[in-house]
Amino acid sequence: METLYATMNPEAIPWDMSEPPEALVDLVEGGRVTPCRTVEFGCGTGTSVVYLASKGFRVTGIDISPTAIRIAREKADKKGVTADFLVADVLGDVGWIRNSCRFAYDWELLHHIMPDEREQYVANVHAVLGPGGKYLSVCFSESDPQFGGQGKYRRTPIGTLLYFSSEEELAELFSPRFTIIDLETRTIAGRYAPHLAVYAFMEKR
Ligand SMILES: C[S@@+](CC[C@H](N)C(=O)[O-])C[C@H]1O[C@@H](n2cnc3c(N)ncnc32)[C@H](O)[C@@H]1O
Repeated sequence: METLYATMNPEAIPWDMSEPPEALVDLVEGGRVTPCRTVEFGCGTGTSVVYLASKGFRVTGIDISPTAIRIAREKADKKGVTADFLVADVLGDVGWIRNSCRFAYDWELLHHIMPDEREQYVANVHAVLGPGGKYLSVCFSESDPQFGGQGKYRRTPIGTLLYFSSEEELAELFSPRFTIIDLETRTIAGRYAPHLAVYAFMEKR
């Protein structure tokens, strides 16, 4: 991912949108998630972090790409909002924010996390949340017609290998640690084409 961020024209990065996702805005504007200590895993260039910070959330954005985090910091400065950013692997140690957040969020991250890594990842999300903390996760659905239109593993035109999920497998992944509030397949915006994605909104058990 670092190579992509470091070499691609930012205007061409397929997921890198200038506005936060409508699904996130709806949660915030609808008051289902209220300003609190928040973490975004796989924050990319920080569009959602900047949005949440502008709404009074105290947000930390984490991404494995140093270039994405540099751009995210610049974006936050330019918008005049305060947020923390960290270059780190979301599968690594999260002890430094254990139990400290009331909202955790990932947008189009989970399809980069392969099935054998997912349990560790979800354990990390659970660990950063305090009691009753909320979690929104949105990733590509196996019914998404993009990138060849079928198969659980699909190679994209820019060379990334993604894993496409079903609602059933995500219910199985999340339900040991979270009470699922909403789980559905939705159309989400993309730079080049819309995608079908699985939307999961949950509460820590
Ligand atoms: C498709 S992009 C989405 C970025 C951002 N959420 C957005 O909507 O613009 C996925 C992001 O996850 C990051 N990522 C992938 N695997 C990661 C990992 N193991 N640890 C941290 N970040 C990771 C990538 O660097 C990339 O920025």
